[in-house]
Amino acid sequence: MTHVSRRKMLASGGALGALGALGMAAPAHARTLLNWTWAPSGSVAGKGAGADPRWVWDDETDPLVADLLDRGDVPRVNELLWNWERNDQPLPSGLPRDLKTYIDEARELPSWADRDKLETAAEFNKSRGIYLNLLNGVGGGMLSTAIPAEARSVYYSKGGADMEDRVAKTSILGFAVGALDAYRPEGTCMVNSVKTRLVHAAVRHLLQRSPHWGDTIPISQNDMLVTWHTLPTYAMRKMREWKVPIGDDEAEAYLHVWQVTAHMLGIRDEYIPATWDAADSQSGQVLPPAMGPTREGVELTDILLGQLAEQTSPGSISRPLCNALARYLVDKQVADWDEIPREPVWERAIATAWPLLVKFREGLIPLPLVPEVAWTIDEAARRYILFFLTKGKETKIEIPTVNRPE
Ligand code: HEM
Repeated sequence: MTHVSRRKMLASGGALGALGALGMAAPAHARTLLNWTWAPSGSVAGKGAGADPRWVWDDETDPLVADLLDRGDVPRVNELLWNWERNDQPLPSGLPRDLKTYIDEARELPSWADRDKLETAAEFNKSRGIYLNLLNGVGGGMLSTAIPAEARSVYYSKGGADMEDRVAKTSILGFAVGALDAYRPEGTCMVNSVKTRLVHAAVRHLLQRSPHWGDTIPISQNDMLVTWHTLPTYAMRKMREWKVPIGDDEAEAYLHVWQVTAHMLGIRDEYIPATWDAADSQSGQVLPPAMGPTREGVELTDILLGQLAEQTSPGSISRPLCNALARYLVDKQVADWDEIPREPVWERAIATAWPLLVKFREGLIPLPLVPEVAWTIDEAARRYILFFLTKGKETKIEIPTVNRPE
């Protein structure tokens, strides 16, 4: 397939041309042309042009990484960046000058980052770790496979061929955001966000050369907002649904660490919601049209649930329980799009047991009221997290140079 540059695409077909191409990759119900009405006054920038984020990508990063790939510099860059890990660590010498200049700027926290809020968020992430890991790891995974643009880009990019490694790499950032030292000098969030931003830019360049991809440029600002809402917005909604007590300062701080992370990943400040209300309204606008079924999403879901069952099972937990847990974490429509098998018995057991476990954890009921199955889920979540925590330590986020091998 010929390479279609963004400029060429926009010049030749404008938004409508690009949307036509998007239609190839999206289910019918996602093709509706909706006007972008979310007001930039609700963003952390407080203002902005109000441009539709479906046609905005990452201008600072994309041309640079495209150039690195075309120059054949990426393998050497990956080698040099392998041991670049800590937020306060100087860059290794020998990097191409344009990349060094870029990273020096991209690694800086935004001027509006608030150290106190980041500290509160770190404590919150620690005390609510089990919910957050389950929601972001398993729940977020199930949501992402029901987002056609994301499922297809994951499937056809390099990592799609080895989902265990892919999940391990993705969880490097997830665990970094949740760590106590996330944005402290000894933490790793700034580094891993910048590396991820470079990876996304590479995917934008590479996927357009895949015979399985249409003419659109993947990972638009809108796509990133969609995924972002499957992380903090979804997790906060579920924790509220589970009646986890959350103080206003904790909610604000949790939003803040994700606002900072959004910025570090290259989401423009004019699109990053300033408040939970603004986040909910944006989520309502971007998520529904972005979701639906795909063959690739169904296959990825099956692989992910197979991994969950395998890593958590030895004897104690079965694939049906994993299916039921996954169905419990997302709503019925998403579970059906993902073709997660129905498990009526387990589903009923989880729906009864999980809220009791939450109540026990929050000190609201005594231990004997928690049914055994709740501890099985708790243990499964722990093992799954531990598995990817361990795997994540063995690998690093690297810029891909190829798509999924045929
Ligand atoms: C890679 C996180 C949005 C597609 C990664 C990686 C991380 C990550 C940590 C590195 C792991 C690796 O190299 O395999 C995030 C976060 C997002 C986001 C936190 C939003 C807040 C998106 C979106 C898409 C996407 C919207 C597509 C529509 C990909 C792909 C790769 C990747 C295809 C892997 C490239 C490969 O296989 O080598 N992402 N991502 N991401 N991301 Fe994202």
